[in-house]
Amino acid sequence: MKPLHLLAKKLKKRMFRYTPSGFPDPKACGAFYDARVGLLAGDDMMVLEYSGMEAQERLFVRATTLLPPQGEILDLGCGLGHLIIYLDEKQLSYGRYHGIDVSSRMIDEATKRHSGRQGISFEHRNVLEDPLIPASFDTGYILSVLGYPIGDDPMRAMMTIIENAFASCRTGIAFSHLASGRKEGLKFTTVPEELAARCESDLGAKVEIDDDGKDFTYLIALRH
Ligand SMILES: C[S@@+](CC[C@H](N)C(=O)[O-])C[C@H]1O[C@@H](n2cnc3c(N)ncnc32)[C@H](O)[C@@H]1O
Repeated sequence: MKPLHLLAKKLKKRMFRYTPSGFPDPKACGAFYDARVGLLAGDDMMVLEYSGMEAQERLFVRATTLLPPQGEILDLGCGLGHLIIYLDEKQLSYGRYHGIDVSSRMIDEATKRHSGRQGISFEHRNVLEDPLIPASFDTGYILSVLGYPIGDDPMRAMMTIIENAFASCRTGIAFSHLASGRKEGLKFTTVPEELAARCESDLGAKVEIDDDGKDFTYLIALRH
């Protein structure tokens, strides 16, 4: 018989590999990440579905290069609040940081880790039901958040989230998404130029794309 700790490890690996095809609504997405926080505690990258810390850092570098942080920061889908650690380590200046997530356990854990620090706050919120107030932040980031299809019209749901975040940030936002045709098994992909064109026409945004044509993750910055 296998010792218990080996069984637990196996279960964790299975949990890490398990990814649903999508979610009926953001609440179900929150419940999925709640479960990961509980079952995979101790390995942040597993909880957050990153292949490793380098992958997460690479995304943060690209996002903050594309849209440098400034003023009041919105981190939509903040997870465990790693972006704030990155900003501090790189000494990227900002006024205030607000992390929002649809998973209450992510928010509890992020709050625990960063509690007591001035100018940093976290909030459990579903922006599809409870939209953000316009122009309440300066720069916004939505990183590694939009990769699962949500509801019957995932494109509409994603555009609603992007639109609300964009309206809530006075300077603009940067978000990542998954490029079509570059990797098997991705749940929800788009063509970078098509999504950028849609953001330009629907939201009247000035658009910039960070895409090398090979990496399955690309980023878009939207500026007012
Ligand atoms: C892969 S993690 C990334 C976390 C963080 N952005 C990072 O890069 O470390 C995705 C996070 O987005 C959150 N999320 C997904 N859809 C969301 C939505 N519609 N609103 C808020 N948070 C969402 C999940 O709960 C999860 O914590």
